[in-house]
Amino acid sequence: MDIADKFNESVTSWETVIFLYNSALKEVETKLEILNDEFRHIHKYNPIEYIKSRIKTPESIVKKLKRNNYESTIDNMVSHVNDIAGIRLVCSFTSDIYRLAEMIGRQNDLTVVSVKDYIKKPKESGYKSYHMLVTVPIFLTDRVIDTKVEIQIRTIAMDFWASLEHKIYYKFEGDAPEYISRDLRECAGIVSKLDAKMLSLNNAILQAKKEQEAK
Ligand code: GTP
Ligand code: MG
Repeated sequence: MDIADKFNESVTSWETVIFLYNSALKEVETKLEILNDEFRHIHKYNPIEYIKSRIKTPESIVKKLKRNNYESTIDNMVSHVNDIAGIRLVCSFTSDIYRLAEMIGRQNDLTVVSVKDYIKKPKESGYKSYHMLVTVPIFLTDRVIDTKVEIQIRTIAMDFWASLEHKIYYKFEGDAPEYISRDLRECAGIVSKLDAKMLSLNNAILQAKKEQEAK
């Protein structure tokens, strides 16, 4: 029996589903805050600048099911909509993204279901981010239910680009003029260059500081 079947068997009402996804979001968010705090405690450094989380609205759930030709049922929603609970981790440098992904992968109580690396392989739009689909066990009084959470990890620059692109996409309902899409892709390239430059600058600063301290 896969995760979705097990989930569907014990969850039948909309309220229970939303309660579970809310609990999963809280669990994962707390876990990530603890990882960040521990990292700061040991290395005097914050890999996460900020965390944003949200539960998908019923309207967007229904819209997504429709878009993929599924009927709006609880079973379909649980099986086919992976981002009902979503967390976005925004960090300073690309290196932080992979460091965080590794830290998440090592958490014994999280199961990594799938990973999409849109940094190594950006989307056609120019979109870059690292996506992880995980499940977290939610302990109820009489049973344990593994619940899905989508984690998106990106830099501040990638987040800046994605927020603007998202707004434009919605303004044109996916039908933006070609020159706008082209300019956005060009901006994505500028954002990547900026990220690379900031990373090498940060490495240079760390190196210079080390040399100064050694004197
Ligand atoms: P969705 O149906 O959009 O959820 O796509 P998917 O199921 O193929 O998953 P994918 O990992 O590709 O994308 C999931 C999420 O990533 C979306 O809901 C957005 O938050 C974000 N995303 C993906 N592609 C783009 C993009 O081109 N632009 C922006 N701004 N966000 C994107
Ligand atoms: Mg989505």
